Amino acid sequence: MIFEGIITTTNADGSAHVTPMGFRRRDDELLVAPFHPSRTLDNLLARPHAVMNLVDDVRIIAGCLTGRRSWPVVAASGIPGWRLADSLSHLELAVTAHEDDTERPRLRLAVQGEYTHRAFRGFNRAQAAVLEAAILVSRLDFIDADKLASEMAYLHIAVSKTAGENERTAWRWLVEAIAAHPRHGLDCALLSVA
Ligand SMILES: Cc1cc2nc3c(=O)[nH]c(=O)nc-3n(C[C@H](O)[C@H](O)[C@H](O)COP(=O)(O)O)c2cc1C
Repeated sequence: MIFEGIITTTNADGSAHVTPMGFRRRDDELLVAPFHPSRTLDNLLARPHAVMNLVDDVRIIAGCLTGRRSWPVVAASGIPGWRLADSLSHLELAVTAHEDDTERPRLRLAVQGEYTHRAFRGFNRAQAAVLEAAILVSRLDFIDADKLASEMAYLHIAVSKTAGENERTAWRWLVEAIAAHPRHGLDCALLSVA
């Protein structure tokens, strides 16, 4: 099973690097697989601690894909590094193994601590739709234009029916990124939210 979280790693200057990243979990171990090139990968190899943040604010996901990476962080509790200030929970991690690959290396990370901050408030279709749209936006350089347009039209239904303010903001950022991309002349009006 693959989960989606926000991984925070540490840059060479000590600041936090924030990136959405899928992960698998088995007991007290996480597996992540960043595609080359990746700042997250470089950071993990140079400074082998990280935090996996589990969030319900989908602006963080959409923001990281649209150049908005300055999300508030606070120091992790038991490892060197940073966690997002606003998460439902977070896992503090240490790299234990690195399997190199020219395209997609795999890293194993041991869970050093698990912390819960807020309760899960329930599923929301607009959040799921923004997550899917963010995946599409991460593939704008190679995704087929018709496939993108039809999938965004479908995801728009859930956003227009069930979104709150954060979901609408995140959706707008993603639609703007698609509209600005030279391969995709998407009509933003069709995907607008109130
Ligand atoms: C929900 C979600 C999951 C993602 N999972 C991965 C992943 O498993 N591996 C990866 O390389 N990129 C993944 N991405 C894309 C990265 O977030 C994005 O490409 C990022 O720029 C990675 O580069 P960085 O490590 O230099 O920040 C995901 C994006 C989203 C929206």
